[in-house]
Amino acid sequence: MPAVVLVGAQWGDEGKGKATDLLGDQVDYVVRYQGGNNAGHTVVIGDQKYALHLLPTGVLSPNVIPVIGNGVVIDPGVLLSEIDGLQARGVSSERLLISANAHLIMPHHKALDKVSERYLGKAKIGTTGRGIGPAYGDKIYRMGVRVQDLLDPGILQQKIEVALGEKNQILTKIYNRRTIDANKVLDEYLGYAERLKPHIADTSLILNRALDENKVVLLEGGQGNLLDIDHGTYPFVTSSSPTSGGACSGSGIPPTRLTGVIGILKAYTTRVGSGPFPTELEDEMGDWLRTTGGEYGVTTGRNRRCGWFDAVIARYASRINGVTDFFLTKLDVLSGLERIPVCVAYEVDGVRHDEIPMTQTDFHHAKPIYEEFPGWQEDISGAKTFEDLPANAQAYVKALESMSGARISAIGVGPGRTETLQIHSLI
Ligand code: GDP
Ligand code: IMO
Ligand code: MG
Repeated sequence: MPAVVLVGAQWGDEGKGKATDLLGDQVDYVVRYQGGNNAGHTVVIGDQKYALHLLPTGVLSPNVIPVIGNGVVIDPGVLLSEIDGLQARGVSSERLLISANAHLIMPHHKALDKVSERYLGKAKIGTTGRGIGPAYGDKIYRMGVRVQDLLDPGILQQKIEVALGEKNQILTKIYNRRTIDANKVLDEYLGYAERLKPHIADTSLILNRALDENKVVLLEGGQGNLLDIDHGTYPFVTSSSPTSGGACSGSGIPPTRLTGVIGILKAYTTRVGSGPFPTELEDEMGDWLRTTGGEYGVTTGRNRRCGWFDAVIARYASRINGVTDFFLTKLDVLSGLERIPVCVAYEVDGVRHDEIPMTQTDFHHAKPIYEEFPGWQEDISGAKTFEDLPANAQAYVKALESMSGARISAIGVGPGRTETLQIHSLI
C-alpha cells in the first residue's frame, strides 16, 4: 500500500510536475492536497508542453486517477477552463475526482487578494493574485464555501449571502471598491455545479480503500517547504501546508499509511514574490541562471529570483518533511560554469548558523557561507546514468547529497520525461 508524498524542498518551481509525471506509469492515483491555481507545474512529453495549475499532473497519464483533495482551494471557473484546454489537446479529465470537502475560491477572495496586496504597498507578499490567501482565511474563519455546497442550491445561496454580507462591507468601506452581487455569484456557481457534479466524491474514503487494495497513491504537493504557512518564511509564504504533514490533512490519508517522501530539489535556488532569500544573486550571474534555466513563472510570468544552491534549506526540508529520497532537478543548467558556489551555512551578526535561524529577523540578516566546487563544461543532457556524468558533476551531486540529509535518488538533466538519471527506485 505505497502512499508516497512528493514535496517541493525549496520555494516552489523545483520541477514537481516533471517528477510526478515521470512516476505516472507506476502509480494508480495522483492527489493534489493543498494550494490552488497559484501552482504552475510544467510537464514536457515529447514535443508537447503542458502547464497544469489545479489538475493533478496524473491527468496526463491515462491509467492514473487524478484527485483534488480536501486541502485544495478550487477556483471552479479556472478548473473548468483547464479541463477544456486539455480536452482540446486530446487529454480527458473524465476520471477526475474532487473532494466534497475542498473549499471554493469565490470572486470576493480574488478581489480581496488584489486590494490587500495594494494596501500592503512595499510590504506586499507578492502573491499570485488568485485569491488563495483570502480563501484559506475564510476556511479557517469558518466562512468558506465548499465543493459540497454546490450540490445544495439553498445552502449555497445562504453561504454566499452571509459571506458577501461581510466582504462587501470590507470591499466598499475599507478598500473603496464596488460591491459584489450575491445573485450573480450564485448563478455563476450553479452553472459550475452542473459540470462539476459528476466528479464530486468522498475522496478520503476512496483513497484509503485503494490503499487497502494495494494500489499506489502519489500525493503531489504544490509550492514548497519554505512557502509553508507554518514552516516557511512567514509572512512571505502561501496560506497552506505544502509539507508532508499537510499531505495527510489535505487528503485524509493518515500518517501511518505514508511510505515515502520525495523531496524535489533544484540544483540551484529560485523564488518568486517577496521575502528573504540568502543566496539570491542580484547580478549578471543571477540573470545567467534565469536565462539558462528558463526561470520565468508558469502562473504569473514573473521573473524568478535566482541564486546558488543552499544546503541549509535542503537540510531543513529533509527534517520538516522526513524526506526519504531527493530528486535533484536541472543539473544540466549548471553546465559551463568554472566554479559553482554552494551555501553550506549562514553567518548572522558574526555567528555561524548550520541550521535555519530561529527568528525572521535573523533569517533576513543571514549571509551565506560558500564552499566552491569545480564546474564542468560538457553538455550533460544526453547522460543516461550517473556514471555518464563528468567527474565534477558527479562530485557536485555527491557533495549536495552529503549536506542535504537524504540520498539523491534521481537527477534531472533536461525537462523531458526521459531526461532523468535514476539511481534508486522512488516508489
Ligand atoms: P513545479 O512548479 O515544481 O512543477 O516546477 P515548474 O514547472 O514551475 O518549473 C520547473 C521548470 O523546469 C519547468 O519549465 C520544467 O519543464 C523544467 N525542468 C524540470 N526538470 C528539469 C531538468 O532536470 N532540467 C531542465 N533543464 N529543466 C527542467
Ligand atoms: P508551484 O506549485 C513558486 C508564491 C507567490 C508568493 C507566495 C504567496 O508552481 O511550485 P499565494 O498566491 O500563494 O498567496 O502567494 O507564494 N507562490 C509560488 N512560488 N511556485 C509556486 O507554485 C507558488 N505558489 C505560490 O509567488 O510569493
Ligand atoms: Mg511551478
